Amino acid sequence: MSGDQLPFYLPTADECVLFEQAWRRRLPLLLKGPTGCGKTRFVAHMAARLGRPLYTVSCHDDLTAADLTGRYLLKGGETVWTDGPLTRAVRDGGICYLDEVVEARKDVTVVLHPLTDDRRILPLERTGEVIEAPPEFMLVVSYNPGYQNILKSLKPSTRQRFIALEFDFPPMDAEIRIVAAESGLPEERVKPLVLLAERLRRMKGQDIEEGVSTRLLVYCASLLSAGIPLTAALRAAIIEPLSDEPDVKHGLMEAVTAILG
Ligand SMILES: Nc1ncnc2c1ncn2[C@@H]1O[C@H](COP(=O)(O)OP(=O)(O)O)[C@@H](O)[C@H]1O
Ligand SMILES: [Mg+2]
Repeated sequence: MSGDQLPFYLPTADECVLFEQAWRRRLPLLLKGPTGCGKTRFVAHMAARLGRPLYTVSCHDDLTAADLTGRYLLKGGETVWTDGPLTRAVRDGGICYLDEVVEARKDVTVVLHPLTDDRRILPLERTGEVIEAPPEFMLVVSYNPGYQNILKSLKPSTRQRFIALEFDFPPMDAEIRIVAAESGLPEERVKPLVLLAERLRRMKGQDIEEGVSTRLLVYCASLLSAGIPLTAALRAAIIEPLSDEPDVKHGLMEAVTAILG
């Protein structure tokens, strides 16, 4: 397959091999890691590489099992069953990616369980249909353990059904290449931003909940690449997204100025 059509993803360890083997062996996969570190891009890349259609669902606290499996909808006076994204992925032998799965309602795990053991089935309660997942179907879920919400962590009975991969921000050299490739800003101008991110990530937990993500670095570099002055770009892409507290923002700006010199 030509590399040109694949969403760009720079591997940082053996994650691509693991993903491919999990897919071949029909094992569901759990990705853990902070926001903006490359999980979604990784799944998009792997789905394209394996030539499977991707169905991505961003989970939220109102998301129910029916949102995933489907429901009867009124169409021209008739009620017609309409597949949800999970059902479509199972029928098509695609990859279903449930982003931030812990956010979803509890009843979602009920539909995931029979799909994530050796039965590999999706029972549709409302229609009575039981769909057997074809070998090409794969379930991938992600969550961010950093939020430290005890009420919203995965139950052992759910998490122990998945192969799990831990993601983190890429090592410095890789992050420089990624941010340069994504933003078009030359690597020598990206380097100080990545150094800055490394330092700010070490401050995580003190005033800021989460470290500067790779995504924010891409945003910042894109603004710089478009000609936005450094201070404005840092404020808009790093400082403001990290905090709402005037004191914290002031402290961050001081740290940034000190680090960048
Ligand atoms: N290894 C990587 N290769 C290519 N791009 C990456 C990589 N890691 C992060 N990125 C960049 O960071 C952005 C955010 O990553 P994303 O996959 O959306 O994060 P997550 O899903 O973990 O929140 C991507 O849009 C991409 O520009
Ligand atoms: Mg994501």
